[in-house]
Amino acid sequence: MAELHVLDHPLLQHKLSIIRSKDTSVKEFREIVSEIATLMSYEATRDLPVEEVEVETPVAPAKVKRIAGKKLAVIPILRAGLGMVDGILQLVPSAKVGHIGLYRDPDTLEPVEYYCKLPKDVADRDILLVDPMLATGGSATAAIKFLKNYGCKHIKLMSIIAAPEGVERVRRDHPDVELYVAAVDERLNDHGYIVPGLGDAGDRIFGTK
Ligand code: PRP
Ligand code: URA
Repeated sequence: MAELHVLDHPLLQHKLSIIRSKDTSVKEFREIVSEIATLMSYEATRDLPVEEVEVETPVAPAKVKRIAGKKLAVIPILRAGLGMVDGILQLVPSAKVGHIGLYRDPDTLEPVEYYCKLPKDVADRDILLVDPMLATGGSATAAIKFLKNYGCKHIKLMSIIAAPEGVERVRRDHPDVELYVAAVDERLNDHGYIVPGLGDAGDRIFGTK
């Protein structure tokens, strides 16, 4: 089974405390989601392969390491995942970005697909699938299945807050997918919201409520 990484860096935890508060403005919420995404992607890219090359410093030749081989694709699950993209691209500006549009039917909580646009060579890329919230896990497992149908083999899922139910579902349905989260909360409530969570991430990023 692939690893579950719970990222407990103090900077991440501090920023998470701000976005959890119901008093945080849309502007600050959006900015901090992006900052959290930068910090999380620093950890999620820790195992990117490197190769040794030589450069000339002003003093002498030096053997140095550069990112080798595989290329990255960042795939946000629309809409809330969009809030994490720029923060990741700050660290990996050459990554390609694909989009998968899913919304959760409010009655059944089942994911409904409404959009998909992926890089042509997505099957050859390492995938960082991003969505701030992993609740029932329905959206994430559907998106992963979708990507696997396109031939993607190396998929990591990065969510800011997860519910235990979502973690379990993704790990059961896709045991090969590594998970990166900043917190695993207590539970889901009857409406499928993470408790204590932070509310509706999409609404808080885009100010739609
Ligand atoms: C939210 C969230 C995830 C999904 C998580 O999206 O951003 O995509 O719910 O829930 P799940 O794990 O139970 O599937 P939502 O459906 O509210 O759409 P939005 O991003 O457009 O607001
Ligand atoms: N989607 C959200 O945005 N928040 C939750 O708590 C659950 C699903």
